[in-house]
Amino acid sequence: MAEWGFYGRRRERAELAQVLGRGRWFFLQISGRRRIGKTRLVQELLQPERRERVLYIQIPDSDPAGVVSTARDFMENFGVSAPLPHDLRSLAVRIGQLCAEGWIVALDEFQYFSRKALYPFTSELQSEVDRLAATPEAKGGLIVLGSLHTEMQALLEDRSAPLYQRLTDTISLGHLVFGDD
Ligand SMILES: Nc1ncnc2c1ncn2[C@@H]1O[C@H](COP(=O)(O)OP(=O)(O)OP(=O)(O)O)[C@@H](O)[C@H]1O
Ligand SMILES: [Mg+2]
Repeated sequence: MAEWGFYGRRRERAELAQVLGRGRWFFLQISGRRRIGKTRLVQELLQPERRERVLYIQIPDSDPAGVVSTARDFMENFGVSAPLPHDLRSLAVRIGQLCAEGWIVALDEFQYFSRKALYPFTSELQSEVDRLAATPEAKGGLIVLGSLHTEMQALLEDRSAPLYQRLTDTISLGHLVFGDD
């Protein structure tokens, strides 16, 4: 499908450039209301032809097997080498390894991990995130974004959630301002 050109987002791009420019591990949430342009911004910033070692995965509304198989497809398309994951745990581990090697990994529709069958992934991801945060030479980053604010909040801001207080950065999207590019 043909896409319209990409507009604006100068502030948000500058914020991301600042996060990337630190040259240190980051765990970033891109937030904003539905249809505001979260996915489009991430896809714009992570075009493989612009930047090496980026992986974008759109998490499907599916069971663990469906999520893992979709993630494998995205990994193949983005040139990730073996081992490819075979379950939720090895998916989290592979993402952690990629980040440790300096990759930027974006997980879109992250809110689906609040589903019971997928929730265990968040504990596995917590182990990876904690290891990366404790590794001074780690340079990659993880970006999460999703449509449903309450579910994203439950995953990232609830005291009982494995990923509670793990974010290092948040970028919130406002309305597009035309002419601001
Ligand atoms: N900066 C932009 N320039 C041009 N078009 C844009 C821009 N941002 C968003 N759009 C367009 O607006 C529509 C909604 O954007 P997008 O799907 O990225 O929103 P979203 O926040 O990810 O939505 P959801 O919460 O449903 O996931 C898309 O058609 C997209 O191409
Ligand atoms: Mg989206």
